[in-house]
Amino acid sequence: MKIFIKTYGCQMNERDSEALGAMLSQQGHQLTASEAEADVMLFNTCSVRDAAERKAKGKIGFMRKYKKAKPQLIIGVLGCMAQRLGDELLAELPNLDFVLGTGQIHRVPEVINKIAQERKKIADTEFFPDEIEMLGAHGESSWSGQIAITRGCNRFCSYCIVPYVRGREVSRSKESILTEAREMVASGVREILLLGQNVAAYGLNGDIRPPADDHSPFAELLEELNEIPGLLRIRYTSPYVSYFNRRLIDALASCSKVCHNIHLPLQSGSDTILKAMNRQYTAASYLEKVAQLRDAMPDLTFSTDVIVGFPGETEEDFRKTRDLMNQVGFEQAFVFKYSPRPGAKSAEIADTVSEEIKLERNNILLDDLKLRIGAKLKQQTGSVVEVLTEGVSARNASRWTGRTATSFVVHFEPDEACRPGTLRRVEITRAGEVSLFGRLLPEDK
Ligand code: SAH
Ligand code: SF4
Ligand code: F3S
Repeated sequence: MKIFIKTYGCQMNERDSEALGAMLSQQGHQLTASEAEADVMLFNTCSVRDAAERKAKGKIGFMRKYKKAKPQLIIGVLGCMAQRLGDELLAELPNLDFVLGTGQIHRVPEVINKIAQERKKIADTEFFPDEIEMLGAHGESSWSGQIAITRGCNRFCSYCIVPYVRGREVSRSKESILTEAREMVASGVREILLLGQNVAAYGLNGDIRPPADDHSPFAELLEELNEIPGLLRIRYTSPYVSYFNRRLIDALASCSKVCHNIHLPLQSGSDTILKAMNRQYTAASYLEKVAQLRDAMPDLTFSTDVIVGFPGETEEDFRKTRDLMNQVGFEQAFVFKYSPRPGAKSAEIADTVSEEIKLERNNILLDDLKLRIGAKLKQQTGSVVEVLTEGVSARNASRWTGRTATSFVVHFEPDEACRPGTLRRVEITRAGEVSLFGRLLPEDK
């Protein structure tokens, strides 16, 4: 059958869709990017904000026209919204054939066959704790690849739906991760991105208490990955600030392939709001960690996630967030307007900040960010950086794109030796609004 997969949400969902697509191809199905040609349509959905759910529902509803033209078309919803709403979705979206939750992705091939034969609707949201071990397949190899090392989340930040829709936190065995990584590198992958909702808590058996200063299974994993010949870079997302203990910071500094860029979600700069969010750090302890990390790696860059308009957020709370963001000097930030999620703890308290104020605060932070990024990029002009080449630039076909280990995007004119997934040096000649431009230096012989 021809199968169309559309993915919403975070990299975890992207990775699940990739593994699912690879499983389906191995079983003789064909993946298609064309909605009109599809015999099966799969929507891997996100529940993190209301807008994410509305977007997916709108799209699925719109698929009615294909179902009319081709009644045997099978439409399935997977992922976090499927987990949250289960069979309610079958009632809400009559053109749906099945709903499978986040613990059931591996069952998609079997369920498609069953529906093709029996034409009965199916909804199942039971969790399979070892789901993560069943989703190891990879699609067509490229210079970069992703590995999910943990699944689920035990932290229960009060605003967040993820622990409910992704289930309890489990870590994969180190051996299976290393085997997967070695196979990826053998097939041409040069950069690996490690994924988890709480990635630095890898190997702690779901215990959310940060371990003693000399213990970090995540650090041990990075050290072993760092030894894989042929692998050039290792990235990871998202870590929680409290797990950066001495052991981990030392490992980050000593592993030459681990990139000097950390996505370190802040959420708020006000201790009152952090407490209400059930984030177990303060503005001061966050800053202290950033200082320790920078001390060990002076070129380290940071990106973050921030929520504006959490219930009860005052002007003063917001000002603290703004100040802290400027103080850390994030090189990148994702700002979200608070969205109450039914089932998450904070949904029980009133959503007190108006949409208008949320938008205003959102825009203030984005304006600050723009200024800051502009200045950070300008500082890079004249320097020589090392980039991992990615391929032809999406914006301008005469240029190539690469990324520094600190996550700056660099555009340059390629030479004959240019291949995706190699380390090259570029002299930065000018700064754009969000990226850098430079001159490729000859390959080292
Ligand atoms: N596990 C990741 C976050 C996953 S969700 C982590 O803890 O780092 C990605 C981001 O969405 C969060 O960092 C948060 O900023 C935002 N987010 C989560 N729930 C939200 C909500 N209810 N409203 C608005 N933004 C939310
Ligand atoms: Fe959500 Fe918090 Fe878990 Fe991140 S750590 S997924 S924000 S509950
Ligand atoms: Fe969304 Fe689920 Fe990821 S809720 S952000 S797709 S874990």
